[in-house]
Amino acid sequence: MVAYLIWFARIRRSLTGPRVWPLLGSLPGLFQNKHRMHDWIAENLTMCKGTYQTCIAAVPYLARMQGLVTVTCDPRNLEHILKTRFENYPKGPTWQAVFHDLLGDGIFNSDGDTWRFQRKTAALEFTTRTLRQAMARWVSRSIENRLVPILASCQLKNEAVDLQDLLLRLTFDNICGLAFGKDPETLRPGLPFNGFAWAFDRATEATLNRFILPAIIWKLKKWLGLGLEVNLRESVKQVDKYLDDVICKRKLELSSQQERGATHDDLLSRFMRKKEGYSNEFLRHVALNFILAGRDTSSVALSWFFWLLTQHPRVEGEIIQEISRVLTETRGRDPAAWVSRALEFEEVDRLVYLKAALSETLRLYPSVPEDSKHVVADDVLPDGTFVPAGSSVTYSIYSAGRNPAVWGADFLEFKPERWLTPDKKGFAGPLDPYAFVSFNAGPRICLGKDLAYLQMKVVAASVLLRHSLTVAPGHVVQQKMSLTLFMEQGLKVHVHPRVLPVGEEAALGT
Ligand code: HEM
Repeated sequence: MVAYLIWFARIRRSLTGPRVWPLLGSLPGLFQNKHRMHDWIAENLTMCKGTYQTCIAAVPYLARMQGLVTVTCDPRNLEHILKTRFENYPKGPTWQAVFHDLLGDGIFNSDGDTWRFQRKTAALEFTTRTLRQAMARWVSRSIENRLVPILASCQLKNEAVDLQDLLLRLTFDNICGLAFGKDPETLRPGLPFNGFAWAFDRATEATLNRFILPAIIWKLKKWLGLGLEVNLRESVKQVDKYLDDVICKRKLELSSQQERGATHDDLLSRFMRKKEGYSNEFLRHVALNFILAGRDTSSVALSWFFWLLTQHPRVEGEIIQEISRVLTETRGRDPAAWVSRALEFEEVDRLVYLKAALSETLRLYPSVPEDSKHVVADDVLPDGTFVPAGSSVTYSIYSAGRNPAVWGADFLEFKPERWLTPDKKGFAGPLDPYAFVSFNAGPRICLGKDLAYLQMKVVAASVLLRHSLTVAPGHVVQQKMSLTLFMEQGLKVHVHPRVLPVGEEAALGT
């Protein structure tokens, strides 16, 4: 006992983060702040100048190995981890074990050659040509045919609607089109219940729960069939069944198309064409990883974007001016022509202020708020922190966007202007790519980044050209502590008609 206390006093002195407790390490603080975890981590990081070390189990040996977590948002450390010493910082065994039941060895959850091969094959899906096609075929169609009429109907009935739910359905439909060439139309009037989407949500939630428990505990719960592990098992079964059906149909379609010489352009078909003998399990994980990546991330970013606009009418006004100016040039002065069809690729490309506003949203509300890497060999980070082999590094994407040392004293302000060139005509991006990691950075940078911007811009422009939104009275907007930064109770809004600037006003952007 005395020996333990002496050891604990020594380890406590060597750690730099929030208070650690005997045996439980930093877990009590984590539990106490579980409803505001990202803000808590950001506060800790600000206090510790960008990096701290803590342990999730104050037990000899563990506290220096698997139990030791280095938390950072320092751009120099991020560049080191994500690019310079990429091979030393894989996802690693802890992350892979936690996510394996849901994601298998898919691109999100693999390292080394398994990851490299999937990355190379999937990258072919994200060329400019396929992005244009995808936008025309899946994104624009679902906006014009379904999102726009649903919002018009809400406006007409003066009914509050959960915008986050509509956007989740829209991006789910889009990513299914891209992943396996079929739009399930979950965004439809009446908003039907979708078993796959529901099971998927339950599975991610149960998976995240594993993260806050020591591995031994969740593994024991899995073995005994207790608590959320039961949800996980059942939901994964449901998700697998849905995807097995899709894959079997696709295999049949593909073989009958080969006979006719026709080709399929979706992601699954690309993998199937590479090698015929892939197991359904492998293909299932390819699809599932992409659905996870492409479905929730852009819809939650859009939800935060629309909410931020309700709080910042000046920014909303700037966006409307920009869209009106571009459309006056491409379609003439009649606003009826502006809403006659969704925006074209070339029109979207010119919406620089809108891109800045979306980037500013992702700075403050990154869709993936925290991420983690495993340390393969002993290393020293650029800020001098020693990271031992076997420990892990959590890089807080949320805190990186709220680092006052990088973004200045006004870091909490929603200011799209900080993304523009000095003449305000171009998109400058962040000064340092490792200061803004909402799309990750280095070799594992988000594969869908360009598609996501394209999709978010078309959705944003289509909605804002037709409507202004107000948050429904009494509705509380709150972060949900999940893998993805959802709004806990969604985003209930009222939909109003938009009054557009016309004639000289739009052309001059005044
Ligand atoms: C606003 C929208 C999006 C954001 C903020 C975002 C963010 C991210 C982040 C942070 C990662 C790194 C995750 C990790 O390694 O743990 C990532 C990876 C990835 N994203 Fe996105 N993403 C978005 C949209 C999309 C879309 C629409 C797609 C696909 C259509 C996509 C496909 C991917 C893929 C495949 C990876 C894995 C890359 C790899 O490990 O090599 N993302 N994304």
